Amino acid sequence: MNLEQEINKRRTFAIISHPDAGKTTLTEKLLLFGGAIQTAGAVKSNKIKKTATSDFMEIEKQRGISVATSVMTFEYNHMKINILDTPGHKDFAEDTYRTLTAVDSVILVIDCVKGVEEQTKRLMEVCRMRDTPVIIFINKMDREGQNPFDLLDELEQQLNIKTRPLTWPVNMGADFKGVYSLYEEQLYFFKSNKTKIESDVLKIKLDDALLEQKVGARDAAQLREDVELIEGVYDAFDRQEYLAGKIAPVFFGSAINNFGVKELLDAFCEVSPRPVHRPTNVRVVEPNESKFSGFVFKIHANLDPRHRDRIAFLRICSGVFERGKFYRHTRSGKDVRFSSPFSFMADSKAILEEGFPGDVVGLYDTGSFKIGDTLTEGENLQFTGIPSFSPEIFKELVNLDPMKSKQLEKGIQQLTDEGVAQLFTLQPGSRKVVGTVGELQFEVIQYRLEHEYSAKCRFDAMSMTKACWLTSDDKGKLDEFIRLKGMQIGYDKDQNPVFLADSDWILRMNMTNNPDIKFHFTSEFKLEA
Ligand code: G4P
Repeated sequence: MNLEQEINKRRTFAIISHPDAGKTTLTEKLLLFGGAIQTAGAVKSNKIKKTATSDFMEIEKQRGISVATSVMTFEYNHMKINILDTPGHKDFAEDTYRTLTAVDSVILVIDCVKGVEEQTKRLMEVCRMRDTPVIIFINKMDREGQNPFDLLDELEQQLNIKTRPLTWPVNMGADFKGVYSLYEEQLYFFKSNKTKIESDVLKIKLDDALLEQKVGARDAAQLREDVELIEGVYDAFDRQEYLAGKIAPVFFGSAINNFGVKELLDAFCEVSPRPVHRPTNVRVVEPNESKFSGFVFKIHANLDPRHRDRIAFLRICSGVFERGKFYRHTRSGKDVRFSSPFSFMADSKAILEEGFPGDVVGLYDTGSFKIGDTLTEGENLQFTGIPSFSPEIFKELVNLDPMKSKQLEKGIQQLTDEGVAQLFTLQPGSRKVVGTVGELQFEVIQYRLEHEYSAKCRFDAMSMTKACWLTSDDKGKLDEFIRLKGMQIGYDKDQNPVFLADSDWILRMNMTNNPDIKFHFTSEFKLEA
């Protein structure tokens, strides 16, 4: 198979949702249809993470929330599908955002009872920023949910995207009869069925009298009326608009009952994009370029707490990745090679001999990688759009065991390289400030410092709420600003000066009063320099 064919058969995407909408259940069912796992239904939502995916962190088991982002790969209809799992908890939003930089499309799961929820909006904002194509799956149709037309209106208004239903529910809740596929003109009959994956299908035109017999006169009439309205109100589905991130096709179903999932997967395989081009600080990289390139979007502590090595998740963007070949780590300029890169199958890790655009490769790393790092066959470029965001919660890291200060230092350096949080140093005294987007990260850091590095620490609250990286074309002005602001200035791990503001108001005032200083809200400015 040549490179073009390898690219064509790949689909790399993430499933996103507000917690509890059914992301885990849907993931499980997709794996089931893909033959990657054998049983469903009996498996509880958390269990899937333990049995079929890479559940790296002890803390995840303890808390029962998905801290880790993992990758699940399976073959379906001659396609190779990579699902990048995203943590559900809002405090790990940054992890999710980074994962979204590594996918080509997403499936958004909505709970039909709850509609658009807070996380849904935030996640969709990130997708909209990148024009990521979105398919919407409205889940839990076996429950008494909102009127489907109202739901679509809500989606359009709150998520700022046009929608186009491709299947339509026949009733819902206790009377849920199934979905009618508007493009296949067939009716899928609903059966509450948590273990089997076959569904009962009937090819039928809407004006067929058989429809009454199958779903009853009232539901048949309602379906005809609904479909007439849909065809009148919504434009025909246009794949190009979907690929441009302007319109989201909508499917209805019930993941727990294996219902509507196969249609979703089939449609996904048909319309979703193959691996797409990616921006760098120099030029756009096309997937079918012969030379390999890729970037690290996640770094994770290894499964084995006795070993400090880490796993870097690399998304291949172009060319062919080969085991044992030397690649340029563009940030350091060093050439590196990997003797045992691995792929993520649903329940095991296999050594990967070669990988293609869209694939995610696991690389063992002893501390040289940071989030966003790029590997190439020698070209000096760096993929963009994988920034660290300005943190919002800041706490001072206090060492509780002076005998273990080396371990603490190493631990916090490595954890912040992984992107768990950001580290700033305040002078005088080299006080360490940890900045995060969520409270939970502090508990994760504390736990991991203790269990992986044998270091004990405490976090003391600080008053800042925003950190902005500082640059200026006038070095003298920047030095003067830094001198004047004293305690409000910290340094990030690369010694870049950062302004730590107590409030938005103070930040805005400083921005207004210092027009020669540039305040950056993401770390991406480093690439502009
Ligand atoms: P998440 O990953 O998005 O957080 O959601 P998850 O799949 O864990 O699903 C959240 C809850 O919703 C689970 O129930 C799950 O069984 C249920 N669920 C998923 N799909 C459907 C559906 O189509 N219909 C109905 N009625 N429920 C669905 P739970 O009680 O929290 O967990 P469990 O004890 O069932 O595992």
